[in-house]
Amino acid sequence: MRAITKTPIRVIVIFLLQALCTGTAQSQAADNSLFKDELSRQEQIYQGKGEQRLDGYVIDRGLSTYTNALPSGFGSALANLGAGDRWLDIGAGMGQAVLDYYSPIYESKQADGWKHRGRKASTVAMSIEDRRTPYWHEVAARLETNQLRYVFNKPLKEYSSEELGKFQLITDVIGGFSYSTDLSLFMEKVMGFLTVNGTFYTVLQDVRAEGGKNKPYYAGASFLTEIQDARGAEVGICSWLKSMSCVQVTCEAKPDWQPPVEVYRIQKVCDDVAVPALSPIHFTAGTPPERGFRLAGPSRPPGSVGASRALGPGTPAAGVKPSAGVR
Ligand SMILES: C[S@@+](CC[C@H](N)C(=O)[O-])C[C@H]1O[C@@H](n2cnc3c(N)ncnc32)[C@H](O)[C@@H]1O
Repeated sequence: MRAITKTPIRVIVIFLLQALCTGTAQSQAADNSLFKDELSRQEQIYQGKGEQRLDGYVIDRGLSTYTNALPSGFGSALANLGAGDRWLDIGAGMGQAVLDYYSPIYESKQADGWKHRGRKASTVAMSIEDRRTPYWHEVAARLETNQLRYVFNKPLKEYSSEELGKFQLITDVIGGFSYSTDLSLFMEKVMGFLTVNGTFYTVLQDVRAEGGKNKPYYAGASFLTEIQDARGAEVGICSWLKSMSCVQVTCEAKPDWQPPVEVYRIQKVCDDVAVPALSPIHFTAGTPPERGFRLAGPSRPPGSVGASRALGPGTPAAGVKPSAGVR
């Protein structure tokens, strides 16, 4: 059995954002302050250094863990990147996976002929807090200027294409995809930073697997990330991802991981990506946090038009497929 993280911290207070729309002014103020409390707890988790860092907040996973955790095509997609290509690791922690990519050990594991391809791709490691180590600076100093960048101090949603450019490969291993308070905006941003034919590899812990009858890992707890439609019926994460336009999505459950994970490969196949909009309805700070979202539009059969946020002009909105794992 493999563990991608240690025991998640689940804080007791639960915030229901939806009450903001329906409750009294007094209860709205109370809920609002609970939400602020949860965000401030989450910020403390991000900023915890040394003894203040929670055990469950893992920041040092290397490339071999990424390769094991992510969908099977990730290793070859990375190895196939050439000199002109770019890899963005969102939620990189101390950036160990990116550092491993430039190490001689990684090179020695590649097939013959790989070394003759010349310079490796450029990489950008992103983190909210600065987790760089002396080793990071050592490796960066050995590489060409800007071949290895570390960007920090803000979440993905606050970056523009002008600041970051485009990437052929994007990864997220228990980074922003697991932690973001605004999942649809997060996905819009990721898809915007990908080139056409570029691929996003990511993972979520403890979610309802596609078509699965699995239960939350911790008895009495919810899944870590949940989506419901406007009527409150469960929509699977995979189903939501597949309802985006201009993407090809594969989802794979890894039930023997502790907690179990579902891994995703999302390839952008054309520019007019539309992401069905989600509103946050629940956020509990943790490692990762517990999040609930609601589809902004009604759940509709495949092929029909649903609420979505478009990245490009003239975007055909994608319908939301009914969940395979409705509660
Ligand atoms: C648990 S650490 C994981 C680090 C690394 N991927 C690993 O596996 O060791 C979470 C990382 O995600 C980052 N993060 C969380 N939310 C983010 C967001 N919305 N945008 C960018 N980074 C985010 C944190 O700052 C941190 O670097």
